[in-house]
Amino acid sequence: MTEIEIKNAVKSFELLIKEQSDRSDEIKQQGGFIDYSKLDKIIVGVCGGDGIGPIITKEAARVLKYMLGDDTAAGRVEFRFIDGLTIENRAAANTAIPNDVLEEIKACHVILKGPTTTPQAGDPWPNIESANVAMRKALDLFANLRPVKVPSEGIDWTFFRENTEGAYAVGSKGINVTDDLAVDFVVTTTEGTRRIASLAYDYARRNSKGKVSIVTKANVIKTTDGKFLRICKEIGSEYPDIVTDEWYIDIMTAKLIDQKRRRDFKVFVLPNLYGDIITDEAAEFQGGVGTAGSANIGKRYAMFEAIHGSAPRMIREGRGKYADPCSMLRATVMLLSHIGRQKEAERLERALDICMFEEKKLVITGRSDGCECGEFGDYVMETVKSIL
Ligand code: IPM
Ligand code: MG
Repeated sequence: MTEIEIKNAVKSFELLIKEQSDRSDEIKQQGGFIDYSKLDKIIVGVCGGDGIGPIITKEAARVLKYMLGDDTAAGRVEFRFIDGLTIENRAAANTAIPNDVLEEIKACHVILKGPTTTPQAGDPWPNIESANVAMRKALDLFANLRPVKVPSEGIDWTFFRENTEGAYAVGSKGINVTDDLAVDFVVTTTEGTRRIASLAYDYARRNSKGKVSIVTKANVIKTTDGKFLRICKEIGSEYPDIVTDEWYIDIMTAKLIDQKRRRDFKVFVLPNLYGDIITDEAAEFQGGVGTAGSANIGKRYAMFEAIHGSAPRMIREGRGKYADPCSMLRATVMLLSHIGRQKEAERLERALDICMFEEKKLVITGRSDGCECGEFGDYVMETVKSIL
């Protein structure tokens, strides 16, 4: 390694540190959460995304428009369809979210977003940052809530995945120091951890969950995970009514398949990457990632999406029309609840439970032996209408 290579790496590192320090200061200056009940009008943006995104988002948007029909007619809610968030546009602008699209998004309060394609080295696309990750950062959506429920197994979990830090904070800004040496970075801030932990504990208290499990790998990733664990425990000590337990990610991954133990878990709080991985595992018990939605919550904005990607393989194999809209419909439940439309949220959740777990008149398999996405959308719509 040459002196110049070391100097260049240090320079890049210095920039990262400055950026992250500024971000940490900005978090400290933030006020409280937006109060939707005080707004004259809530603006709901809908982005279809890539791959199966537009197909499954269409069904969710249809149901959402129906459920907010009265609000829309009375001018209390406005829908805006934003179609610029495509991989083609992002590649042409060589950026994760083109500026004009980001402006449109920022003019909304909440976003219903279909999955977007995340390029990786070797793809036909430039290796730009994931649009999900960029949006979470640009709108400071620091909490990723991912519920997973399998009533017949007694599973009722809510994951609070930290959404702007950890391995993702500068995930697209690692340093290739030389051809032989690459370095990535993990970031944990005090305020960034306090706010996700507080949200998880508040949720546990409000919903009488009784227990919060903190998941890290603090025995090995001592500095950043160690800090995350310590701060979560500090916040936990302010909630004496809630039991806190702590786990390492490897054993937690195993415990989720332990049928005797897993029903004891309720609320999880964990750094970004572990949250990413374990929520795919958790969703598998519920019927796969196609059934799981996620809420990305910040103080000013919120974005609701599927937990999965844009499934380019399904599109390549001509199976797009068999995609499962349930992930986006579950995200829609969370959107309704988030903007204070709790009755509508419960009605849609009930309809989804009937269609997915109880009545199951139509079944989605992702292939031609199952029903089509649009047919399932019709089924959910009919069921919603039958519940008053
Ligand atoms: C998720 C997805 C994203 C993530 C990808 C698409 C960048 O896997 O929302 O879990 O890693 O966060
Ligand atoms: Mg994921």
